[in-house]
Amino acid sequence: MPENDNPLVAELEAVRAQALGELDTMSDLTDLDAWRIQYLGRRGALTQVMRGIGQLPPLQRPEVGQVSNDVKTVLETAFDDRVETLKQQRFATTLSQEQLDVTLPGFPVSLGRLHPTTQILREITGIFADMGFQVYDSREVESDLYNFELLNIPPYHPARDMWDTFYVNEKVVLRTHTSPGQIRAMQAFHPDPIRVILPGMCYRYEQVTSRHEMMFTQVEGLAVGEHITMADLKGVLENFARRLFGDNRRMRFRCSHFPFTEPSVEVDMDCFLCNGQGTGCSMCKESGWLEILGAGMVHPQVLRNGGYDPTVYSGFAFGMGPERITILKYGIDDIRLFFSNDLRFLEQFS
Ligand code: PHE
Repeated sequence: MPENDNPLVAELEAVRAQALGELDTMSDLTDLDAWRIQYLGRRGALTQVMRGIGQLPPLQRPEVGQVSNDVKTVLETAFDDRVETLKQQRFATTLSQEQLDVTLPGFPVSLGRLHPTTQILREITGIFADMGFQVYDSREVESDLYNFELLNIPPYHPARDMWDTFYVNEKVVLRTHTSPGQIRAMQAFHPDPIRVILPGMCYRYEQVTSRHEMMFTQVEGLAVGEHITMADLKGVLENFARRLFGDNRRMRFRCSHFPFTEPSVEVDMDCFLCNGQGTGCSMCKESGWLEILGAGMVHPQVLRNGGYDPTVYSGFAFGMGPERITILKYGIDDIRLFFSNDLRFLEQFS
């Protein structure tokens, strides 16, 4: 084809050739955009060429306009095609690289489970339910009156040292044990006979260590009626220990003191790790015995405070710590694990 003697037409054709050449090598959408601005933009190459139109003899001008429009259309179409091709390519790559394998196993759904304390509480409640004990709920925020005074612990009495206490104010405390529930149950039930257990949270102003927590659960037990003796207490507790720890468990009652029971005992169970042998056993520190709870016959004054006449009625009470029982049962060495929400610990109790 002979060279066009119209210089602007020649220039336009050169621009077209260059632009199309570059377009063919482009594979990036941002580069493409730059290309569009460079050639088709308001200050792009086409516009630049058209600026020279005024210098041309009038006869040559229409041809320039014509060619310029053609070039513009060609470039725009080429641009759109290129963009479309690139998008298709990308889509194809995505499809081939990110294949969905519907035969792969799904993600496992992680199931929650009951906290070990809840589990042991349910076990304990179940055993006592079989012996006719019902659950009685009592408050965690208590008055000094119920937590101490009605349990025979007057202000300034040295027995208060047995319980390091969170005082909300002078008269209100976080209960340090479930025993105030004894009074509440008696006041609610009297003059009827009582057989209840009182599970719940207790709080003590403790330095937290592997052996002490400032919060823990207790299960209180209370039976009040006519002719209730210490033999009943022994029978109930022995049955409980055997159901929880195994048929051959032996128990021993040691003399102890609590202001609200008289006589008071601490109850040990023979160590299930060494079967009571003791020698070399770390669980029972070689004694052969594990302390599991405190108990006693309800003090006459406490019966009176609950509304029962101690010349007619008698009763027994006991208090145990489910965390401690779980610790003993599984050989756990740190009580803080019960409240630290560590799944590695919690998941072991299915
Ligand atoms: N309340 C006592 C404590 O926390 C335990 C106990 C309960 C003792 C009932 C005797 C009777 O230490």
